[in-house]
Amino acid sequence: MKIAVLTSGGDAPGMNACVRAVVRSTINYGYEAYGVFDGYKGLVEGKIRKLDRNDVGQILNRGGTILGSSRLESFKEKEVRQVAVDNLKALGIDNLVVIGGDGTFRGAMALNDMGINCIAVPGTIDNDIASTEFTIGFFTALDTAIDAIDKLRDTSFSHQRCTVVEVMGRNCGDLSIFSGIACGAEIVITKDTGYNEEEILRQVQRAQNMGKRHLIVVVAEHITDVSKLAKKIQDNSGYEARATVLGYIQRGGTPSAFDRILASKMGVHAVDLLTEGKGGFAIYTKSLDVGHIEINEALTKEVKPSDLYKYLSKLN
Ligand code: F6P
Repeated sequence: MKIAVLTSGGDAPGMNACVRAVVRSTINYGYEAYGVFDGYKGLVEGKIRKLDRNDVGQILNRGGTILGSSRLESFKEKEVRQVAVDNLKALGIDNLVVIGGDGTFRGAMALNDMGINCIAVPGTIDNDIASTEFTIGFFTALDTAIDAIDKLRDTSFSHQRCTVVEVMGRNCGDLSIFSGIACGAEIVITKDTGYNEEEILRQVQRAQNMGKRHLIVVVAEHITDVSKLAKKIQDNSGYEARATVLGYIQRGGTPSAFDRILASKMGVHAVDLLTEGKGGFAIYTKSLDVGHIEINEALTKEVKPSDLYKYLSKLN
């Protein structure tokens, strides 16, 4: 059996950990692993190479993706995908793991329908894949955003300012709302909250009336021009205001422990499915739900050993 892996769409910290898991577990099954370079674009261009265990050494902790990534609009066209399928078949590869966001998933579904067994692994900082609670890269990007906003808070406090911060996420507000909660932002604006300028100005006023020395407003990207919003706030309140767009810094950096482990587990699971002859599946994880049980009952429960030890032998 031959299993190829590619990364596609916006890169996300933890993609490398997943590539490593796919390659190592494939080899540990006694099968051949292949890397496709530069996403679907590279697949169409035939940039496919056999990988060995050492090719994926020293990458677990690296941000970005060693395979490279791309966005290829024309992959929606069947003739373009046919070239990709032919390139894989020419090497005798009929199993593919793709790591990326929803565009990547759509490509995988189409390839699966064309005879390549595909497994889609959610890898994007946006956390905008409905079938999984968390995507690879989300928590690392969140840590980056939090770190930046904490720093902005320092200077915001010193100067009694209102700081308006734009956070990535494409059409999903998760990075904004999670970082807003983790940083104690006074106002968070996403697609879900809606954008109502008068209401925002009222909230700023309320904060001022409460005696807040400074405040943080987190705004998800594509909602409004944060510089204009900062100016509006400055003109209509007692705060000086400044805007910061966090931008691509959120996509880079060393993956967090959570993302490394999630990516490793997902990569192994993807290969397990392919070895069982299963294609057309999307990997998911759940859940961070919060609930409650009686303390008495909590104390009668045994600590379950983590199932992670099962993964170790597949990852080395
Ligand atoms: O999907 C990840 C993401 O960083 C989004 O948050 C952002 O909207 C988009 O990619 C930017 O895309 P590009 O890399 O094509 O500029």
